[in-house]
Amino acid sequence: MTDTPILVAVAWPYANAEIHVGNLTGSYLPADIFARFSRLRGRHTLMVSGSDSHGTPITIRADAEGTTPYAAYQRFHGSFLDLYQKLGISYDLFTSTHTDNHFEISQKIFLALKENGYLYTEKSNQWFATSQSRFLPDRYVEGTCYICGDTNARSDQCDKCGSLLDADQLINPRSKVDGSTPELRETEHYYLDLGKLQPQVVEFLKEKQEHLRPNVLRQSLGQIEAEALHGRAITRDLDWGIPVPLEGWTGKCLYVWFEAVIGYLSACVEWAALEGKSADWRDWWYDALARTYHFIGKDNIPFHAVIWPAQLSGCGTAFSRLMGDEPHTLTLPYDVPANEFMNLEAQKISGSRNWAVWGLEFLTRYDPDPLRYYLTVNMPETKDTDWDWDDFYHRNNDELVATWGNLVNRVLAFTYKHWEGVLPDPGELRTADRQLLEAVEKGFEDVAAHFEGVRLRAALAEGMRLAGEVNKYLDTSAPWFEIKTDRAAAAKSVYTAIRAIDSIKVLLAPFIPFTCERLHSFLGYDAPLFGRQYTQLVKDSLGEHTVLRYDPSAASGRWQASTLPGGTTLRQPAPLFRKLEPEIVEQERARLGRK
Ligand code: MF3
Ligand code: ZN
Repeated sequence: MTDTPILVAVAWPYANAEIHVGNLTGSYLPADIFARFSRLRGRHTLMVSGSDSHGTPITIRADAEGTTPYAAYQRFHGSFLDLYQKLGISYDLFTSTHTDNHFEISQKIFLALKENGYLYTEKSNQWFATSQSRFLPDRYVEGTCYICGDTNARSDQCDKCGSLLDADQLINPRSKVDGSTPELRETEHYYLDLGKLQPQVVEFLKEKQEHLRPNVLRQSLGQIEAEALHGRAITRDLDWGIPVPLEGWTGKCLYVWFEAVIGYLSACVEWAALEGKSADWRDWWYDALARTYHFIGKDNIPFHAVIWPAQLSGCGTAFSRLMGDEPHTLTLPYDVPANEFMNLEAQKISGSRNWAVWGLEFLTRYDPDPLRYYLTVNMPETKDTDWDWDDFYHRNNDELVATWGNLVNRVLAFTYKHWEGVLPDPGELRTADRQLLEAVEKGFEDVAAHFEGVRLRAALAEGMRLAGEVNKYLDTSAPWFEIKTDRAAAAKSVYTAIRAIDSIKVLLAPFIPFTCERLHSFLGYDAPLFGRQYTQLVKDSLGEHTVLRYDPSAASGRWQASTLPGGTTLRQPAPLFRKLEPEIVEQERARLGRK
């Protein structure tokens, strides 16, 4: 099991908006926590993602700002890198879909599916904006619903009567972009034959039924049982994106959803090349025992639990042959731990209304670990949750600071002062000492079991519960009083507490890595718990892109209880967290909805 390759595959953020706390708790943060655990556990772990840089919304945004899609994507890509570094989202590679490598791999997947007979072409009529000489996606055309007569229907859907519409029947169509009247034009596209791939998809889902989350099963297997799968267009009339790799198809691109998911594979290929071990991506993709975890928000479920498995299994062995390899099928996802949504002060998060807490902006006023902590205790694992500033304030002060931060600071400062910065030798431990250390040691199994099931809230709660146990132990043993009468007894108490803290530090490290790293150093360790994040500039024929990397060398196989011996030289401790003032609650609430 230790050698099982683990791929932490994280949703690719659209490069046309900043990242807010809802996005973070939905997929990027849980992925990082899981990857950090997996590395501490000593597993062969790779965590990848990148900017989802194509698609119509980016071109429209670029037009509106008078810039190019390339420039628009680069701007957001840069801010993602900044946020991920500041928040410690430790991608082994965070790249982009706008790279030669991703183009090539995506085109090969397309060709493999075509070769295996899972693609077909079809002609249809679509709305064309003569004002801009381009086809408009359905959601950019509005008009009158031909069922209920509402004048604000989207061409594919009417919110008033709830009907799904045939886009080409919309009455009085108008472009949402500039108000002009589009006309119908015939166009031809490639379709992925999901009907033909349905048996493979169903088999895949049934096999994983036991551990897939209920929301994921409902939106995949449940949906297929209610209505059979049918073909989906996987090309678009667009020039910003990946060209269809066939003659006579100029001006057409692969649909952004078709190619973005392929990024999970192409990013592994790019990572291996950057590492100078170009064969190594195969560890995750040709090994049926490898485990891929897709960390996504609930709006992405059908794309990851149905369409992506269909794309992968439809490739058969054709993709491996196009890569010049022996025949291999591609590994299907192992788990899709999709999260529900986080609201903000009881309202839906909305970027356009600025009803949002933005990641980068938050970090100008607060530290990263309190954010990671709050987003974990409130993670929407099974139902929607709510970010509430008063709750944030209390969780910070009453839990992070009071239960954990003060415990650490109190014990370390006391020991440092009374034993000249050296962990005292305890001699033989007493029953209560041994009981505490045993309880903490058992935490490694319990917390790991929660991680295996991707129950991150439960994993964190168990770590914090053990911190509470150390507090109780200290209430009884009270070394601050013992030292006045019995220095040897006080030595046993601080030694025991520090051993427990040293262990709990490992359990909490995936969640709050920055402060655990500092604590790790206070405890005298030289080698850090985790590796280092860094950026690297990559150039290719499409331009250049900066990627985020992680040097994992420091962190492997530390998932075990402390063995810190008496006599260890400690470092001067300092408080790990800041207590927040109650005023921040009203200050922060006042910012919401303000532009
Ligand atoms: N860009 C999409 C979103 O933010 C997610 C794409 S995940 C991918 O919702 F794998 F398809 F890239
Ligand atoms: Zn209607």
